[in-house]
Amino acid sequence: MQPHIQFKPESNELHLLDQRLLPRTEEWFVCRNMDDIIFALKEMVIRGAPAIGVTAAYGCCIAAGNADPSSSHWVTDLDRQLTELAQARPTAVNLQWAVNLMRETWNVRPDIQLGELHRMWIAQAEELHRQDDKINREMGRHGAALLQNGDTVMTHCNAGALATGAYGTALGVIRAAVESGKRIHVLANETRPFLQGARLTAYELAQDEIPVTVCCDNAVGLLMAKGMVQAVVVGADRVAANGDAANKIGTYTVAVLAKRHNIPFYVAVPFSTIDFATASGEDIPIEERTPLEVTHIQDRQITPDEVPVLNFAFDVTPAELITALITEKGVIKPGELRNFKS
Ligand code: MRU
Repeated sequence: MQPHIQFKPESNELHLLDQRLLPRTEEWFVCRNMDDIIFALKEMVIRGAPAIGVTAAYGCCIAAGNADPSSSHWVTDLDRQLTELAQARPTAVNLQWAVNLMRETWNVRPDIQLGELHRMWIAQAEELHRQDDKINREMGRHGAALLQNGDTVMTHCNAGALATGAYGTALGVIRAAVESGKRIHVLANETRPFLQGARLTAYELAQDEIPVTVCCDNAVGLLMAKGMVQAVVVGADRVAANGDAANKIGTYTVAVLAKRHNIPFYVAVPFSTIDFATASGEDIPIEERTPLEVTHIQDRQITPDEVPVLNFAFDVTPAELITALITEKGVIKPGELRNFKS
Protein backbone atom coordinates (compact mmCIF):
# COMPACT_ATOMS: atom_id res chain seq x y z
CA MET A 1 0.00 0.00 0.00
CA GLN A 2 1.23 3.50 -0.74
CA PRO A 3 1.98 5.62 2.38
CA HIS A 4 -1.37 7.02 3.52
CA ILE A 5 0.10 9.67 5.84
CA GLN A 6 2.39 12.06 3.97
CA PHE A 7 3.96 15.10 5.59
CA LYS A 8 5.24 17.78 3.18
CA PRO A 9 7.89 19.81 5.05
CA GLU A 10 8.27 22.27 2.16
CA SER A 11 4.63 23.42 2.46
CA ASN A 12 4.07 22.42 6.11
CA GLU A 13 1.07 20.30 5.09
CA LEU A 14 -0.12 16.85 6.04
CA HIS A 15 -1.77 14.81 3.27
CA LEU A 16 -4.07 12.04 4.49
CA LEU A 17 -5.76 9.39 2.37
CA ASP A 18 -9.39 10.13 3.27
CA GLN A 19 -10.68 6.98 5.02
CA ARG A 20 -14.28 8.23 4.97
CA LEU A 21 -14.33 7.65 1.22
CA LEU A 22 -12.50 4.34 0.89
CA PRO A 23 -12.67 1.89 -0.78
CA ARG A 24 -14.53 3.45 -3.74
CA THR A 25 -12.74 6.81 -3.83
CA GLU A 26 -9.06 7.50 -3.19
CA GLU A 27 -8.91 11.16 -2.31
CA TRP A 28 -6.38 13.13 -0.27
CA PHE A 29 -7.42 15.40 2.57
CA VAL A 30 -4.91 18.22 3.09
CA CYS A 31 -4.31 19.58 6.61
CA ARG A 32 -2.83 23.08 6.64
CA ASN A 33 -3.54 24.09 10.23
CA MET A 34 -4.53 22.66 13.60
CA ASP A 35 -8.26 23.03 12.87
CA ASP A 36 -7.81 20.75 9.84
CA ILE A 37 -5.92 18.19 11.94
CA ILE A 38 -8.56 18.16 14.68
CA PHE A 39 -11.34 17.90 12.06
CA ALA A 40 -9.53 14.98 10.39
CA LEU A 41 -9.25 13.16 13.72
CA LYS A 42 -12.80 13.83 14.94
CA GLU A 43 -14.44 13.03 11.59
CA MET A 44 -12.22 9.98 11.05
CA VAL A 45 -10.56 11.08 7.84
CA ILE A 46 -7.78 9.25 9.69
CA ARG A 47 -8.41 6.79 12.51
CA GLY A 48 -6.82 3.87 14.34
CA ALA A 49 -4.78 4.42 17.49
CA PRO A 50 -1.19 4.51 16.13
CA ALA A 51 -2.24 6.52 13.04
CA ILE A 52 -3.93 9.04 15.33
CA GLY A 53 -0.63 9.34 17.25
CA VAL A 54 1.44 9.89 14.09
CA THR A 55 -1.08 12.46 12.80
CA ALA A 56 -1.02 14.31 16.12
CA ALA A 57 2.78 14.53 16.02
CA TYR A 58 2.65 16.08 12.54
CA GLY A 59 -0.17 18.34 13.78
CA CYS A 60 2.24 19.84 16.31
CA CYS A 61 4.70 20.54 13.46
CA ILE A 62 2.01 22.27 11.41
CA ALA A 63 0.97 24.41 14.39
CA ALA A 64 4.58 25.43 15.09
CA GLY A 65 5.17 26.21 11.39
CA ASN A 66 2.10 28.47 11.32
CA ALA A 67 2.91 30.31 14.56
CA ASP A 68 4.14 33.90 14.32
CA PRO A 69 7.51 34.33 16.06
CA SER A 70 6.95 38.10 16.32
CA SER A 71 3.78 37.58 18.38
CA SER A 72 4.22 37.94 22.14
CA HIS A 73 1.83 35.05 22.74
CA TRP A 74 2.97 32.37 20.32
CA VAL A 75 3.98 30.19 23.28
CA THR A 76 0.54 30.29 24.94
CA ASP A 77 -1.24 29.93 21.58
CA LEU A 78 0.80 26.88 20.66
CA ASP A 79 0.36 25.39 24.11
CA ARG A 80 -3.45 25.81 23.85
CA GLN A 81 -3.49 24.15 20.41
CA LEU A 82 -1.60 21.15 21.75
CA THR A 83 -4.11 20.84 24.61
CA GLU A 84 -7.04 20.93 22.15
CA LEU A 85 -5.31 18.41 19.92
CA ALA A 86 -4.84 15.94 22.78
CA GLN A 87 -8.61 16.05 23.41
CA ALA A 88 -9.76 15.38 19.85
CA ARG A 89 -10.67 11.75 20.62
CA PRO A 90 -10.75 10.27 24.12
CA THR A 91 -10.15 6.52 23.89
CA ALA A 92 -6.97 5.95 21.86
CA VAL A 93 -4.17 6.71 24.30
CA ASN A 94 -1.68 7.12 21.43
CA LEU A 95 -3.09 10.61 20.90
CA GLN A 96 -2.10 11.89 24.34
CA TRP A 97 1.07 9.81 24.21
CA ALA A 98 2.26 11.49 20.98
CA VAL A 99 1.32 15.02 22.11
CA ASN A 100 3.12 14.42 25.43
CA LEU A 101 6.26 13.28 23.61
CA MET A 102 6.27 16.45 21.51
CA ARG A 103 5.59 18.58 24.58
CA GLU A 104 8.44 16.94 26.50
CA THR A 105 11.04 17.96 23.90
CA TRP A 106 9.69 21.51 24.08
CA ASN A 107 9.71 21.47 27.92
CA VAL A 108 13.39 20.53 27.91
CA ARG A 109 14.14 23.76 26.01
CA PRO A 110 11.49 26.30 27.06
CA ASP A 111 13.48 29.22 25.58
CA ILE A 112 13.89 27.65 22.15
CA GLN A 113 13.30 29.82 19.06
CA LEU A 114 10.13 28.98 17.15
CA GLY A 115 11.98 28.10 13.92
CA GLU A 116 14.23 25.68 15.75
CA LEU A 117 11.28 24.12 17.58
CA HIS A 118 9.55 23.61 14.22
CA ARG A 119 12.61 21.85 12.73
CA MET A 120 13.12 19.76 15.86
CA TRP A 121 9.48 18.65 15.90
CA ILE A 122 9.54 17.69 12.21
CA ALA A 123 12.55 15.46 12.85
CA GLN A 124 10.81 13.99 15.91
CA ALA A 125 7.49 13.37 14.13
CA GLU A 126 9.24 11.74 11.16
CA GLU A 127 11.18 9.50 13.53
CA LEU A 128 7.99 8.57 15.41
CA HIS A 129 6.40 7.66 12.06
CA ARG A 130 9.41 5.50 11.05
CA GLN A 131 9.47 3.83 14.47
CA ASP A 132 5.78 2.97 14.20
CA ASP A 133 6.47 1.04 11.00
CA LYS A 134 9.47 -0.71 12.56
CA ILE A 135 7.57 -1.63 15.74
CA ASN A 136 4.66 -3.04 13.73
CA ARG A 137 7.05 -5.26 11.80
CA GLU A 138 8.59 -6.51 15.06
CA MET A 139 5.11 -7.27 16.40
CA GLY A 140 4.37 -9.03 13.13
CA ARG A 141 7.45 -11.21 13.50
CA HIS A 142 6.47 -12.24 17.06
CA GLY A 143 2.81 -12.78 16.21
CA ALA A 144 3.29 -14.66 12.94
CA ALA A 145 4.60 -17.67 14.86
CA LEU A 146 1.18 -18.03 16.56
CA LEU A 147 -0.64 -18.60 13.26
CA GLN A 148 -0.59 -21.95 11.48
CA ASN A 149 -0.38 -22.59 7.76
CA GLY A 150 -3.97 -22.82 6.47
CA ASP A 151 -5.58 -20.88 9.35
CA THR A 152 -8.63 -18.70 8.93
CA VAL A 153 -8.10 -15.66 11.14
CA MET A 154 -10.90 -13.36 12.21
CA THR A 155 -10.30 -9.65 12.80
CA HIS A 156 -12.58 -6.83 13.90
CA CYS A 157 -12.41 -3.19 12.78
CA ASN A 158 -9.26 -2.16 10.91
CA ALA A 159 -5.93 -2.57 12.65
CA GLY A 160 -3.93 -2.47 9.44
CA ALA A 161 -1.61 -0.11 7.62
CA LEU A 162 -4.43 2.43 7.44
CA ALA A 163 -4.74 2.44 11.25
CA THR A 164 -1.02 2.89 11.84
CA GLY A 165 1.96 4.68 10.31
CA ALA A 166 2.37 1.65 8.03
CA TYR A 167 2.08 -2.18 7.98
CA GLY A 168 -0.47 -2.55 10.80
CA THR A 169 -0.74 -4.19 14.19
CA ALA A 170 -3.28 -7.04 13.88
CA LEU A 171 -2.99 -7.02 10.08
CA GLY A 172 0.78 -6.68 10.50
CA VAL A 173 0.74 -10.07 12.26
CA ILE A 174 -1.26 -11.52 9.37
CA ARG A 175 1.00 -9.85 6.77
CA ALA A 176 4.10 -11.24 8.49
CA ALA A 177 2.60 -14.75 8.59
CA VAL A 178 1.82 -14.53 4.86
CA GLU A 179 5.31 -13.15 4.13
CA SER A 180 6.79 -16.13 5.98
CA GLY A 181 5.03 -18.43 3.50
CA LYS A 182 1.88 -19.38 5.44
CA ARG A 183 -1.50 -19.57 3.74
CA ILE A 184 -3.86 -17.40 5.79
CA HIS A 185 -7.48 -16.53 5.04
CA VAL A 186 -8.89 -13.48 6.81
CA LEU A 187 -12.47 -13.03 7.98
CA ALA A 188 -13.09 -9.30 8.29
CA ASN A 189 -16.06 -8.43 10.48
CA GLU A 190 -17.85 -5.54 8.78
CA THR A 191 -17.77 -3.44 12.00
CA ARG A 192 -20.94 -1.38 12.19
CA PRO A 193 -21.48 1.53 12.08
CA PHE A 194 -18.38 3.05 10.41
CA LEU A 195 -17.62 -0.22 8.58
CA GLN A 196 -13.87 -0.20 9.08
CA GLY A 197 -13.79 -3.95 8.42
CA ALA A 198 -15.97 -4.04 5.31
CA ARG A 199 -14.38 -0.97 3.79
CA LEU A 200 -10.82 -0.62 5.08
CA THR A 201 -9.58 -4.08 6.12
CA ALA A 202 -11.05 -5.57 2.95
CA TYR A 203 -9.49 -2.76 0.86
CA GLU A 204 -5.96 -3.05 2.14
CA LEU A 205 -5.85 -6.86 2.24
CA ALA A 206 -7.26 -7.08 -1.29
CA GLN A 207 -4.54 -4.65 -2.42
CA ASP A 208 -1.92 -6.98 -0.93
CA GLU A 209 -3.67 -10.03 -2.44
CA ILE A 210 -4.24 -11.59 0.98
CA PRO A 211 -7.46 -13.64 0.79
CA VAL A 212 -10.20 -11.86 2.74
CA THR A 213 -13.91 -12.46 3.20
CA VAL A 214 -16.21 -9.87 4.79
CA CYS A 215 -18.83 -11.12 7.24
CA CYS A 216 -21.61 -9.47 9.18
CA ASP A 217 -20.78 -8.69 12.80
CA ASN A 218 -23.67 -10.84 13.94
CA ALA A 219 -22.36 -13.91 12.03
CA VAL A 220 -19.40 -14.33 14.40
CA GLY A 221 -21.10 -16.93 16.64
CA LEU A 222 -22.23 -19.06 13.73
CA LEU A 223 -18.83 -18.96 12.01
CA MET A 224 -17.05 -20.00 15.20
CA ALA A 225 -19.59 -22.74 15.94
CA LYS A 226 -19.05 -24.11 12.42
CA GLY A 227 -15.29 -24.37 13.07
CA MET A 228 -14.54 -21.74 10.44
CA VAL A 229 -12.20 -19.64 12.68
CA GLN A 230 -8.85 -20.84 14.06
CA ALA A 231 -7.70 -17.60 15.70
CA VAL A 232 -8.80 -14.02 16.33
CA VAL A 233 -6.32 -11.12 16.09
CA VAL A 234 -7.45 -7.56 16.83
CA GLY A 235 -5.77 -4.28 17.70
CA ALA A 236 -6.54 -1.99 20.64
CA ASP A 237 -6.95 1.70 21.39
CA ARG A 238 -5.84 1.46 25.00
CA VAL A 239 -4.70 -1.41 27.19
CA ALA A 240 -4.95 -0.81 30.94
CA ALA A 241 -2.24 -1.85 33.40
CA ASN A 242 -4.19 -5.01 34.30
CA GLY A 243 -4.39 -6.08 30.63
CA ASP A 244 -8.01 -5.09 29.92
CA ALA A 245 -8.16 -3.86 26.31
CA ALA A 246 -10.43 -1.20 24.79
CA ASN A 247 -11.03 -1.70 21.10
CA LYS A 248 -13.77 -1.06 18.53
CA ILE A 249 -17.31 -1.76 19.69
CA GLY A 250 -18.10 -5.44 19.15
CA THR A 251 -14.63 -6.70 20.09
CA TYR A 252 -15.83 -7.81 23.54
CA THR A 253 -18.59 -9.88 21.92
CA VAL A 254 -16.05 -11.55 19.62
CA ALA A 255 -13.81 -12.32 22.64
CA VAL A 256 -16.66 -13.91 24.62
CA LEU A 257 -17.57 -16.07 21.63
CA ALA A 258 -13.92 -17.02 21.08
CA LYS A 259 -13.69 -18.18 24.71
CA ARG A 260 -16.92 -20.21 24.30
CA HIS A 261 -15.42 -21.96 21.27
CA ASN A 262 -11.84 -22.36 22.60
CA ILE A 263 -10.41 -20.13 19.89
CA PRO A 264 -7.27 -18.13 20.80
CA PHE A 265 -7.96 -14.40 21.03
CA TYR A 266 -4.89 -12.19 20.48
CA VAL A 267 -4.57 -8.42 20.88
CA ALA A 268 -1.71 -6.90 18.87
CA VAL A 269 -0.51 -3.65 20.46
CA PRO A 270 2.60 -1.51 20.53
CA PHE A 271 3.69 -0.38 24.00
CA SER A 272 2.54 3.15 23.06
CA THR A 273 -1.03 1.81 23.38
CA ILE A 274 -0.47 0.43 26.89
CA ASP A 275 -1.52 2.94 29.51
CA PHE A 276 0.16 2.01 32.78
CA ALA A 277 -1.49 5.03 34.45
CA THR A 278 -4.93 3.48 33.95
CA ALA A 279 -5.46 0.63 36.40
CA SER A 280 -8.26 -1.28 34.67
CA GLY A 281 -10.66 -1.17 31.75
CA GLU A 282 -13.33 0.48 33.89
CA ASP A 283 -11.21 3.64 33.93
CA ILE A 284 -10.81 3.85 30.15
CA PRO A 285 -12.93 6.67 28.67
CA ILE A 286 -15.27 5.31 26.01
CA GLU A 287 -16.02 7.65 23.12
CA GLU A 288 -19.67 8.19 22.18
CA ARG A 289 -20.12 9.36 18.61
CA THR A 290 -22.89 11.07 16.72
CA PRO A 291 -26.17 9.09 16.39
CA LEU A 292 -26.05 9.89 12.66
CA GLU A 293 -23.52 7.07 12.19
CA VAL A 294 -26.23 4.64 13.33
CA THR A 295 -29.40 6.28 12.04
CA HIS A 296 -28.05 6.72 8.52
CA ILE A 297 -26.31 4.55 5.94
CA GLN A 298 -24.51 7.10 3.84
CA ASP A 299 -27.23 9.71 3.23
CA ARG A 300 -30.19 7.40 3.78
CA GLN A 301 -31.96 7.36 7.14
CA ILE A 302 -32.76 3.82 8.26
CA THR A 303 -34.34 4.42 11.69
CA PRO A 304 -37.64 6.13 12.48
CA ASP A 305 -37.49 9.82 13.36
CA GLU A 306 -36.88 10.66 17.00
CA VAL A 307 -36.02 7.14 18.17
CA PRO A 308 -32.94 7.44 20.41
CA VAL A 309 -29.72 5.72 19.44
CA LEU A 310 -26.69 4.47 21.37
CA ASN A 311 -23.38 4.90 19.62
CA PHE A 312 -20.54 3.82 21.90
CA ALA A 313 -17.50 3.57 19.66
CA PHE A 314 -15.48 1.15 21.83
CA ASP A 315 -15.88 -1.61 24.38
CA VAL A 316 -13.51 -3.24 26.83
CA THR A 317 -12.41 -6.86 26.65
CA PRO A 318 -11.41 -8.09 30.11
CA ALA A 319 -7.87 -9.46 30.38
CA GLU A 320 -9.18 -12.94 31.28
CA LEU A 321 -10.59 -13.31 27.74
CA ILE A 322 -7.28 -12.38 26.07
CA THR A 323 -5.00 -15.30 25.26
CA ALA A 324 -1.98 -13.03 24.78
CA LEU A 325 -0.86 -9.55 23.84
CA ILE A 326 1.39 -9.43 20.79
CA THR A 327 3.83 -6.55 21.33
CA GLU A 328 7.16 -5.39 19.88
CA LYS A 329 8.80 -6.85 23.02
CA GLY A 330 7.31 -10.27 22.41
CA VAL A 331 4.14 -12.23 23.10
CA ILE A 332 3.03 -11.73 26.71
CA LYS A 333 0.10 -12.77 28.88
CA PRO A 334 -1.99 -9.76 29.96
CA GLY A 335 -1.13 -10.51 33.62
CA GLU A 336 2.59 -10.23 32.79
CA LEU A 337 2.22 -6.52 32.07
CA ARG A 338 3.01 -5.91 35.72
CA ASN A 339 6.61 -6.96 34.95
CA PHE A 340 6.93 -4.05 32.54
CA LYS A 341 6.81 -0.39 33.35
CA SER A 342 6.05 2.47 31.00
O1 MRU B 1 -12.72 4.46 15.75
P1 MRU B 1 -11.46 3.94 15.12
O2 MRU B 1 -11.64 3.49 13.72
O3 MRU B 1 -10.33 4.91 15.33
O4 MRU B 1 -11.13 2.64 15.98
C1 MRU B 1 -10.00 1.92 15.60
C2 MRU B 1 -9.85 0.65 16.33
O5 MRU B 1 -10.64 0.32 17.20
C3 MRU B 1 -8.63 -0.17 16.02
O6 MRU B 1 -8.91 -1.53 16.17
C4 MRU B 1 -7.51 0.22 16.99
O7 MRU B 1 -7.28 1.58 16.95
C5 MRU B 1 -6.26 -0.51 16.71
S1 MRU B 1 -5.45 0.21 15.34
C6 MRU B 1 -3.99 -0.54 15.03
